[in-house]
Amino acid sequence: MAGYETEKKRVTFRIQRYNSGGKGREHYWQEYKVEAVKGQSVLDCLNEIRWAQDGSLTFRRSCRSGICGSCAMTINDVNRLACETQVMTLGVDTITVRPLRGFRVIKDLAVDIDPIAQKLLAVKPYLITKTPPPSDQERLQSQADRAKLDGLYECILCGSCTSSCPSFWADEEYLGPHAFLKAYRFIADSRDEGAREHFEALDDKHGLWRCHTIFNCVEACPKSLNPTKAIAALKRELVKGRIG
Ligand code: F3S
Repeated sequence: MAGYETEKKRVTFRIQRYNSGGKGREHYWQEYKVEAVKGQSVLDCLNEIRWAQDGSLTFRRSCRSGICGSCAMTINDVNRLACETQVMTLGVDTITVRPLRGFRVIKDLAVDIDPIAQKLLAVKPYLITKTPPPSDQERLQSQADRAKLDGLYECILCGSCTSSCPSFWADEEYLGPHAFLKAYRFIADSRDEGAREHFEALDDKHGLWRCHTIFNCVEACPKSLNPTKAIAALKRELVKGRIG
């Protein structure tokens, strides 16, 4: 097919490996060559490496559709979802892949994401109600109130934002932008009556006040969400003392 050859590219994948059982060579870099074609994602290439070249290469993936957040990793120094990153779009011959910064590496590109879950739980990421529902059906919400949740509910908890945050690098107990965004998703919900409970963990030395508005979290989010805006809104609520 005319022009087909130009749709292919030989790419070198430079991957940071880690094996806790390694003898004196726990952290090291390894290179693999892949004949990438247009439309192939970084995740496709990692799968190809694992299936055809090196079955020991370890990474997380699940949906391959940008929904589960499993394949977040650092690709050419930027936190991204491997499944949504097109090899050709990167426009380079060598692609460097590292595990997300700031998390304990389990093996190769797979990091321990338990801290992400624990910090999320700390902000009570669910609707808290205290009054009985207004009808025997469900708690209704106007379209305008529902629209206020746009940009808040779409977080897939991939960890890219928290991994990119210098406040988290300096304080591993820092709750992190993913937890703030999720907390605000419920605090901003017209049906929620538990602001005080959501805020408990936020107004803490490892909470909101450690955010220095660095914006890395906004740049890193693969879903184009804005944790910094949510953090600013949460700080305003605290300062105004509207938590009831
Ligand atoms: Fe970190 Fe984002 Fe604040 S990068 S310091 S959480 S604005």
